[in-house]
Amino acid sequence: MSSADNKIKELENLFLSDYDLLKQNKIDFESVYNKYLGRKKGLLNTLYPLLSDLDSDKKSEFGKRINNFKNKIILSFDKYKPCNDISEKEVDVDLTLPESYTSLGSIHPITIIIDEIKSIFSKIGFSSVYGSEIDSEYYNFEALNIPKHHPARDMQDTFYINDNILLRTHTSGSQIHFMKKNKPPIRILSPGRVYRNEDISVRSYCLFHQIEGLYVDQNVSFSELKGTLEYFAKEFFGSNVKTRFRPSYFPFTEPSAEMDVYWGLNNESDYRITKGTGWLEILGCGMVDPEVFKSVDYNSEKINGFAFGLGIERIAMLKYGIDDIRLLYEGDYKFLRQFKK
Ligand code: DAH
Repeated sequence: MSSADNKIKELENLFLSDYDLLKQNKIDFESVYNKYLGRKKGLLNTLYPLLSDLDSDKKSEFGKRINNFKNKIILSFDKYKPCNDISEKEVDVDLTLPESYTSLGSIHPITIIIDEIKSIFSKIGFSSVYGSEIDSEYYNFEALNIPKHHPARDMQDTFYINDNILLRTHTSGSQIHFMKKNKPPIRILSPGRVYRNEDISVRSYCLFHQIEGLYVDQNVSFSELKGTLEYFAKEFFGSNVKTRFRPSYFPFTEPSAEMDVYWGLNNESDYRITKGTGWLEILGCGMVDPEVFKSVDYNSEKINGFAFGLGIERIAMLKYGIDDIRLLYEGDYKFLRQFKK
């Protein structure tokens, strides 16, 4: 027997007896592991130099034997490895150092407001659905009782893509999309972007955000509409909030109203955004017009409902004291990072 054979045999026996001790918990895993597989002083490393003394045919045979032995050791150790195994590579890491800094993005103020409103309405059974920002004239106007050449189309300057397709000017079209596919009772919110061809200034932009609300059932009353919106205002602005309803006009609701909340006049941006009144108009609303139900084949003798449309930007600007609406769309990191939830 060559001295290489003797050496490996000796180590194999030694390993068997150490492995026995390990199984009986008489020695700890790390010390046996390092004894055999340690990078610098592991006993397995003492076998490789022996290869150089062997003839070439013996060399490959002995090489295989070392590898088999190594695999056997690794496999036997496997089930004794502690769960928080620290591999050799990681041993040099100083675990007491503070972790490296990771920058977590912030949530856009518009998204913060939309999420909060969705969660307030979800408590009273409203779920969220999403419409499409590119829509047809039919969904954006006709089905909402705004026929061609109706003066109400002038209320909203529209971006047309072609004669029939446009960028939606409001979220109200999602009422139609939803009612065409579903039957009452309905309680939905539909948030999203809308577009209008308006002059860009500190107060208006060519895109902004709305949340549409729709409630359809039997015997729905105007006081339920008021109660629902007052509940929302209290949850969002605080229980002492003052609200008022003013009569208004929308082609898709009859009667129609607008709701204002009293914000107060505490600083310059309050003056600017509320035009010096302290009152902020936050939504349009009303009882769904029977013409709208006709568009979706609902029988308005049997069911009725209410709808509302909330503007998000104005609420965001007041809540956060933002005095230029354009800041909301520029993606400036210095501006956005201030809005940690
Ligand atoms: N779509 C209207 C707008 O953009 C807002 C609105 C008013 C929505 C009354 C409604 C509603 O659902 O009932 O100005």
